[in-house]
Amino acid sequence: MTTFRLNGREVSLKTPEDAPLLWAIRDEAGLTGAKFGCGIGSCGACTVHVNGQAVRACITPLGSVAGQAVTTIEGLDPKGEHPVQKAWIEAQAPQCGYCQSGQIMQAVALLNATPNPTDEQITAAMEGNLCRCMAYIRIRRAIKLAAKAGVKA
Ligand code: FES
Ligand code: FES
Repeated sequence: MTTFRLNGREVSLKTPEDAPLLWAIRDEAGLTGAKFGCGIGSCGACTVHVNGQAVRACITPLGSVAGQAVTTIEGLDPKGEHPVQKAWIEAQAPQCGYCQSGQIMQAVALLNATPNPTDEQITAAMEGNLCRCMAYIRIRRAIKLAAKAGVKA
């Protein structure tokens, strides 16, 4: 068993501790917002937060988050109305949507650390999050809208 906080609630999951965190949160905890893309930490589709830092859940062993705080897209806001989610809707960022929860989790981590990022800081923070639909311009616009609206740390 691995015990940790998942979206503010203590959970104990029986998925093997050397299995990816992504498997545990999707298959055992039933939170399917984080997606499997590449499985090697190269696309960002599986991005979640561990203690507020964006991490790739596909290459994070479940056992490594014991006692830590994990947040998935489902835990950002009870109604899905986190300022970054609202900005995403306003900018109509998603196309197919597959990459988008990872994009949002990465953007929230960026904006919590850097509330008014420059273009260069956005590029640096988001370059590991790939979008096969090429929604990058709208994603950038959404980040800027969220920054303007203000995202609390
Ligand atoms: S599925 Fe984790 S980075 Fe691609
Ligand atoms: S919106 Fe389709 S992969 Fe990004």
